[in-house]
Formats: sequence, structure tokens, C-alpha cells
Amino acid sequence: MNTLTDRPQQEVFLDKLSYEVPTTRYVGSKRRFLEFMHAVTKSLISKDSVVLDLFGGSGIVGYHFKRQGFRVIYNDYLKFNWWIGKALIENTERQLVESDIKSLLEVKKSRKYPTLIQDTFKNYYYTDEENRWLDIVSTNIRYLRKESKKAAAYYALFQACLTKRPWSLFNRVNLAFRLAEQERSFNNKTTWDTSFETMFRRFCDEINQVVFNNQHDNIAMNESAENLSLKSMELKPDIVYIDPPSGRSPSGLLDYYQLYHFLEGLTDYHSWHERIDYQSYNLRLKPRQNSWSNPVELKDAWKKCIQSFRDSILVISYRSPGYPKLAWIEKLLKTQKQDVQVFTQNGLSRIVTSVNQRLEMNEHVLVAE
Ligand SMILES: C[S@@+](CC[C@H](N)C(=O)[O-])C[C@H]1O[C@@H](n2cnc3c(N)ncnc32)[C@H](O)[C@@H]1O
Repeated sequence: MNTLTDRPQQEVFLDKLSYEVPTTRYVGSKRRFLEFMHAVTKSLISKDSVVLDLFGGSGIVGYHFKRQGFRVIYNDYLKFNWWIGKALIENTERQLVESDIKSLLEVKKSRKYPTLIQDTFKNYYYTDEENRWLDIVSTNIRYLRKESKKAAAYYALFQACLTKRPWSLFNRVNLAFRLAEQERSFNNKTTWDTSFETMFRRFCDEINQVVFNNQHDNIAMNESAENLSLKSMELKPDIVYIDPPSGRSPSGLLDYYQLYHFLEGLTDYHSWHERIDYQSYNLRLKPRQNSWSNPVELKDAWKKCIQSFRDSILVISYRSPGYPKLAWIEKLLKTQKQDVQVFTQNGLSRIVTSVNQRLEMNEHVLVAE
């Protein structure tokens, strides 16, 4: 059996992607590694393959597979990501024309606008004026009847929210930092200060431009990975792409529910109030059980996941150093699969599987067939 050290070197060369990649920003996004993903996976599947993106996040990998002409099932346990998945992957055509966008931005006399964001999040993440804008536009989005249109509008809203936050996150309360006129090692202040309306319009344009029909019935799902079954749809994925929350150490596992609590709250505006943990300093949501963010349960979650999708080709993204260790995951895959390969991207657009280089580099793709 091949071990980590005795496998012959493999090289895969990167091609430029032939489409415009959406500008999503998300912790752990594989946007920068799409060419690498493409190089590793392009020979694995044929035109009618079904690909399950089990931990879809920004949707960028699912979108890539959609671009390659495959049927894509996107999944993420967060509701806001599900809306993004619907907009990028499930939708087949442009949804928002100028009259829709104008209508979403208008205060309508006939509507009552709740003020939860203005009342609850004053001085937390956005200015008073921005909080008011969010209360109004999110209410108008909820009034949209067509789900596909709503998905496009939420896509634009969430991307706008992310661009106006330092580090595009909600784990820290740092509005004062964002507003301060000071020298910074990085400077996104111009973007942070750009109005919500401008940003929202920019992302409405973006989603209109990138959405397309690949002639398949692509679906976005919103399940916890361990509960996801495609059996009721009589679907068996040819490939399952697995990119769960990662961390350098057991205590550093990322909790996406908390990093993006504000966007998740926006998707459940009427119950948001009850879900907020008012004891927390950043008004995050009350904790939610998730084995993939829990160091005690993580290895079992991996085992169950690999077991339940053992009949598909498994493609796994892994960043090192990480937890569990790469060798542990490789060994786990070998309990279910004959052929397990580990590819590593180096800084020279060249991918090798040499263990020495793997130690120096940090983005890997494992393929188990
Ligand atoms: C590393 S990110 C995926 C990044 C994605 N591949 C991309 O390129 O944007 C991990 C994702 O797993 C999701 N997630 C966490 N726990 C989950 C669970 N139990 N079931 C499904 N998705 C989960 C998170 O919401 C997050 O979006």
C-alpha cells in the first residue's frame, strides 16, 4: 500500500479558468484555489455527473462545477449560505431588473418597517444610518414573493454587508475601528465607507452577470451534513466535495455560525430577537450544536461522513497545518477506498504530491476513488 512517503510524485498543471469568477468573500473560501481544484478534478467526471458540495459556504466550488456542466447539489447548514447557493447555483437566469432594485431600495408608505437592527445593534457593526437602511431593505426583500428573486436580492445584501465589515466578519465589535481615520497596515476604508446602496447595486449587477443555466436541475440544500440524504430524491452523487470547518488545533476549529451570526439573523428577522445571546459581548446567536466545530466530536463526524458517502468519489480540501492531521484523514479514507491521492499546490502554479514539499505548503486536495 502507498504511504505518505512512498507515493511517486505527480504533477498537474493549472489552466486559466474560462469564466468570470464571482467576487465572494468568505473565511475558508476556495476562490483562490479554483484552478487547482479544476486541475485535480477535471478528469474525474463526465458531463452528466452529479456533484454534491456538502459544505458549500460561498458556493464558489459548486459554481465552478456548475460551469463545468455538471449537475450540482449545494449544501450548507447556514441559512444565509443557502440563499447564496440558490442565487449562484440553483437560479438559472437574471432575476433583478432596475425596477426591482429601485423597489427594494424604496420606503413604501403602505409598509410597516420594524426597527430591530437599529434598536439592537446600535454602535455594533454599522452606523445608525446604515442600520436603518438594513431594516428597510431586508424588510422589502422579505416581501418578495418569488424565491429565486429573493435569493438574488439576499446575495447582494449579504455581499454588501460583508464588504463593509473589517475582515468581513461579525465576531468582533469594531465599528469605532472601521470609522477611525488612522493609518492601517491594510486599508479598506474606502470600501467600508461606500454606501450600502452603492454596494447593494454593485452586487445586484454581479449576480445578474454570473448567473446562468447549465441545463441541469441544480439544487441548494440547507441541512446539517450528517443529516443530509439524497435518497428521497433518488440521487446518488458521483462526487462528494468535502470542505468542512477547519482549524490549526482542536481549540481553533472555526464556528461559522458565530463568525456570521449577523447574516444568519437577517434570514430569520422575526425570530432573531429570541435567538440572540444577550450575555455575549457581540450579540451573537445562542450557541448551536455542531460536531464539525466541536473538537470532541469532530473525528466521529469525519468517520460517519466518509462512511455514508463511501460509494461516491470523495474530493476533500485540506489546509495544513490542521486538525485532524492530514495523515489521519488519509488513513481514514483508506479504510473505505482503494485509491487515495493527495495533491498539494505550491506557489509556482505546480502541484506535486511529494511529502517534503507538502510540509512547506498549505493547500491540499485529497481524491479517494
Ligand atoms: C471551509 S467552509 C467551506 C468553504 C467553501 N468550500 C467555499 O469555497 O466557500 C465550511 C462550511 O461548512 C459549513 N458547515 C459547518 N458545519 C456544517 C454542518 N454540520 N453541515 C453542513 N455545513 C456545515 C459552514 O457554514 C461553512 O460554510
